[in-house]
Amino acid sequence: MRLDKYLSKALGLTRKEAKELIRKGEVKVGDEVVKKADYKVPEGASVFVEGQKVEAKDKVYIMLNKPKGYLSTTERDKDYPSFLDLIPEYEHLEPFAAGRLDVDAEGFLLVTNDGQLAHRITHPKWKVPKTYEVLLEKPLSEGDIEKLQKGEVLVEGKPVAVERVEVSDPNRVLLTITEGRYHIVKKTFERLGNRVLNLKRVAIGDIKLDEDLLEGYYRELTEEEVQRLKRSVGLEK
Ligand code: URA
Repeated sequence: MRLDKYLSKALGLTRKEAKELIRKGEVKVGDEVVKKADYKVPEGASVFVEGQKVEAKDKVYIMLNKPKGYLSTTERDKDYPSFLDLIPEYEHLEPFAAGRLDVDAEGFLLVTNDGQLAHRITHPKWKVPKTYEVLLEKPLSEGDIEKLQKGEVLVEGKPVAVERVEVSDPNRVLLTITEGRYHIVKKTFERLGNRVLNLKRVAIGDIKLDEDLLEGYYRELTEEEVQRLKRSVGLEK
């Protein structure tokens, strides 16, 4: 990558500002001051601005179909691998999951290193809907559906932010909620005297998990999908 591009990525500068820094002799690659904006930064080289190391990390946005048995945290534990083990080629970009999924849950894990977007997607203020396909131990009654729809199910004293409930067969439900409290879907159905047997996240915002994306596989979001997500949380016009 050209040095001016590297700097604008690393520091959020315009190309012009980056060129100016380079021209002033403020930029070193390794031990050498480099004064050429089109200098090609070698792979793995360290770049310093005014003595401080800077890094140009590309932003990454991945739709991963997390299988059960994988953690949505970046730390492995002795029992389970991390989702990072499914995307080793991205690990150097230090991505994390925007919204956790339990180890026994599966489906859409949005993996990114864009902290601002991740924060907004998970913050209740922005009400980003997440849709879960839920298999229940017992059929859901009309009364249960009504309680859910009316926001009458309380978890830890607070109504669950339900946006939509769709029942396909009596034990299967598509639940869309706009919050992300810990174990929220499981706790919601526990409050109704039921139990979640299988939990799969199938959508985040208006982005649906690709039906043909096999478990453990992933793809990068398109530019258009990223813009849509950003727009939904006030980060793009
Ligand atoms: N709700 C849960 O109970 N578990 C998840 O993984 C996500 C939402």
